[in-house]
Amino acid sequence: MSRLVELSATILASPLSFLLLLVLGYLLIVFKRKDSKGNSSSSPSPYPSPPGPWGVPLLGNLLQLTQKPHRKLTEYQKQYGDVYQIMMGSRPAVILNGFNTAWKACVKQADEFAGRPDFYTFKVIGNGKSMGFGDYGKRWKMHRRIAQNALSTFANKRVNPIEDIIANEANVLVTHLLKEGKKPFNPHNEIYLSVGNIICAICFGKRYQRDDPDFLKLVELNDTFMAYAAAGNPVDILPWTRPLLTRSLNKFVGILEIMNKFCAKKQQEHLDTYTPDVMRDVTDILIRTVQETPEEEKEEAGLTDEHILTTVQELIGAGFDTISSTLQWSVLYLMTHKLVQERAHREIERVVGLERDPLMEDLAKLPYTEAVILEVMRHSCIFPLALPHSTTRDTTLNGFFIPKDTLVLINLWSVNRDGEVFADPERFYPDRFLDDSGSINREMAEKFLPFGAGRRRCPGEQLAKMEVFLFIATIIQKCRFEVPEGQQPSLDSKYGLTLKPVDFETCVFARV
Ligand code: HEM
Repeated sequence: MSRLVELSATILASPLSFLLLLVLGYLLIVFKRKDSKGNSSSSPSPYPSPPGPWGVPLLGNLLQLTQKPHRKLTEYQKQYGDVYQIMMGSRPAVILNGFNTAWKACVKQADEFAGRPDFYTFKVIGNGKSMGFGDYGKRWKMHRRIAQNALSTFANKRVNPIEDIIANEANVLVTHLLKEGKKPFNPHNEIYLSVGNIICAICFGKRYQRDDPDFLKLVELNDTFMAYAAAGNPVDILPWTRPLLTRSLNKFVGILEIMNKFCAKKQQEHLDTYTPDVMRDVTDILIRTVQETPEEEKEEAGLTDEHILTTVQELIGAGFDTISSTLQWSVLYLMTHKLVQERAHREIERVVGLERDPLMEDLAKLPYTEAVILEVMRHSCIFPLALPHSTTRDTTLNGFFIPKDTLVLINLWSVNRDGEVFADPERFYPDRFLDDSGSINREMAEKFLPFGAGRRRCPGEQLAKMEVFLFIATIIQKCRFEVPEGQQPSLDSKYGLTLKPVDFETCVFARV
């Protein structure tokens, strides 16, 4: 969104171009409004279009969204209800708010809301062969099934062959955090390197040294990528700005090329050493899928071998940033909420002890630690608007008509901040997830959707839950985090595809 504000300033600086764009923008908005009232060409509807705020010509409501669009969109909910419409530039976007409405759209009307918009950036990602950013249909279904199968070989509800690797890496993280020690430091890189090693172990069967140049580059590029891919990028919603933005667009394409190269190199190494008898990692499983899926089946779904192999790159991107952001938030909340940190540590000390590492089977006996994790995920809400959805056909929701191919944003922030469900929602308070007997209140835990819902629900959920628990339980068991003297860390976030904390420093002390 900040790029939008800069861009607007440049445009407004020239009166003639501003006047021209004003007229053009007005016409576009009138046209689009009519279209979306509309009762799209094919199906006149007796239902009204969703209500919404009036925007300015050309930019629609973009400037009203500010640097924190999720917060502004949640404010609009109070005024316009759970389903309303804004103009993102010249493009109408329907915003879905609150648990019930999000659930209705994603689960009860799953097929209708499972599309992805035809964003320019989405087409560039993975050379247009991405599953997560690709549109809903036969090809997507097959692609998703293949990706989900490959992933679940390493992490599913019954067996966790990856558990030991995560537990080891959590200990490596502890060693590095403690090495940085008592002087203030930013834990960002240490966390990213450890989490990156897990997803690289799953996808490439290999962990990296912390000074490996390829690996360090991947960490460095990730933040820029995430900032660019967020909903509200001018090149996606104001297509006429593309010529003005070629520099930043080329930078984005450059980042993707470096990521592609990194994965292509690993894939080639795998192809050179592949044997069908031993499945070393996700890449091997995908190579086997390419070889075993009949050509007619792939052809019928429009799926190429390249699509299948792009999956690795996608899982690396998705599995890397999400967990790292969640762990960064965890350190920030723990050090700023000393009593929470101490109580979780005491629970782990009592149940697991200080000698052995926490295991997945301990989770059921650590309700307070689990409540801390749930509260970190609720309060930080790293995916405030999920990934942008799109309608696959004309539909209605809560009595409003929504035409096919409408951009739909699922406002997960509004779900997590719903005061009716989560009393005093701005407060960080893990106890809200415990019932009177001190166990997890499952009904409450299911009232927010950190992994989305329905067809597009996160396929990495099981892996994510395992990683987050093992990392957090291990660092709480072995470290104490403190706010550096004289500093007042903010719980504010930086907006991007995922919300990250603003840079902060911590001091880490050994518990044992
Ligand atoms: C704390 C960790 C994570 C959170 C909170 C999270 C959350 C989400 C959310 C909200 C979505 C979008 C759902 C929608 O569009 O409605 C998503 C999609 C996705 N996630 Fe995750 N995720 C996490 C970790 C992971 C991991 C570890 C992986 C894989 C290794 C992964 C892979 C994906 C993929 C591929 C998609 C796109 C799915 C599709 O469009 O069909 N995620 N995730």
